[in-house]
Amino acid sequence: MLLKFHLSRDSHYSRYSSLTTRSASAMRLGPLQLSSPFILAPLAGYTDLPFRLLCREHGAALCYSEMISCHGLLYRQRNTLEMLDTVAEERPVAMQLFGAEPEIMGQATSYLSELPIDLIDINMGCPVRKVIKKGAGCALMRQPRLAEAVIRQVRAHTNLPVTVKIRLGWNHQEINGPEFAKMAEDAGATAIIVHGRTWSDGFGGIADRAGIARVKAAVNIPVIGNGDIHTYQDGLAMMAESGCDGVMIGRGALGNPFVFRPEGRPVNLAAILPSLLRHLELINHFCQPEKVLARAQNQAGRYFKGLPGSSDIRKKIYEAASFADLRLEIQRLAETFPQKL
Ligand SMILES: Cc1cc2nc3c(=O)[nH]c(=O)nc-3n(C[C@H](O)[C@H](O)[C@H](O)COP(=O)(O)O)c2cc1C
Repeated sequence: MLLKFHLSRDSHYSRYSSLTTRSASAMRLGPLQLSSPFILAPLAGYTDLPFRLLCREHGAALCYSEMISCHGLLYRQRNTLEMLDTVAEERPVAMQLFGAEPEIMGQATSYLSELPIDLIDINMGCPVRKVIKKGAGCALMRQPRLAEAVIRQVRAHTNLPVTVKIRLGWNHQEINGPEFAKMAEDAGATAIIVHGRTWSDGFGGIADRAGIARVKAAVNIPVIGNGDIHTYQDGLAMMAESGCDGVMIGRGALGNPFVFRPEGRPVNLAAILPSLLRHLELINHFCQPEKVLARAQNQAGRYFKGLPGSSDIRKKIYEAASFADLRLEIQRLAETFPQKL
């Protein structure tokens, strides 16, 4: 299959020599040696190339793309193809597929495997209605035979490591995470990622680390724990409590790429703003021009969570008429700090 690689407009883009060294021990996913066990989760609408690069610069050992529709890939839909943008500097990088038809997932895997990426993940944990309605995401946890066929097809169409991202089960009467993980291992998965909630939990309550431990105990492949990690130390605690081999951080990384460093988020805005400006620079460089402002607004507001004056700043961010105005606003803030806040 002839492929156009979705590489950057400037493949010599650099500034990645400062990827930090980590204090937690390294982990391995099949052939892939990671420098630490801290991984960025797939987050639809957020984990695009700019955010993944930023998180890599702040110490994430591996970053996952947003979920990519297998149908979107096969029909070459523009929005789907844009999600394949990648550059050498962000590697290792993982792309996540969703879908429920083994054959189509196999074909989509062949397509993805020709990209310069390092790992393919299968989404079997997403609770969103439009995904569940198609029998994909967490709905596959109720169809283990079909799920197995999907994993086997993906496995058969790539030499890359394959992870499977699951929840603990469909609801508290149907907790099948351990058996499901074992099935995935037998079908050829390289590792399991488990969000410590069921489908019925949505995002309520607190991720269940004992549940993650039970999944870990059921398999011989690495298990990556996920759910409610908001600091580096939370990540270490999840590994200690559940025995999982690595951790995946989602919401805790939004506006907070510092979560991948032991020292965490700086306490004052002056130290936070350079990372936001860097994020804006990456968005401006890599996103389609017509999407730059919306992407920047979506991400920028998150950096001010919990800080004094944050609602005023967020208002200004959403009122910005152009990306240049938004950036100017943040630059002004950076120059006038600390007087302004
Ligand atoms: C805005 C948003 C988008 C998400 N998109 C995806 C996705 O594309 N694929 C996926 O497997 N999980 C997705 N998730 C789930 C996260 O990857 C993660 O499992 C969940 O948020 C729990 O981890 P956290 O507490 O660290 O956020 C999404 C979650 C959020 C909040």
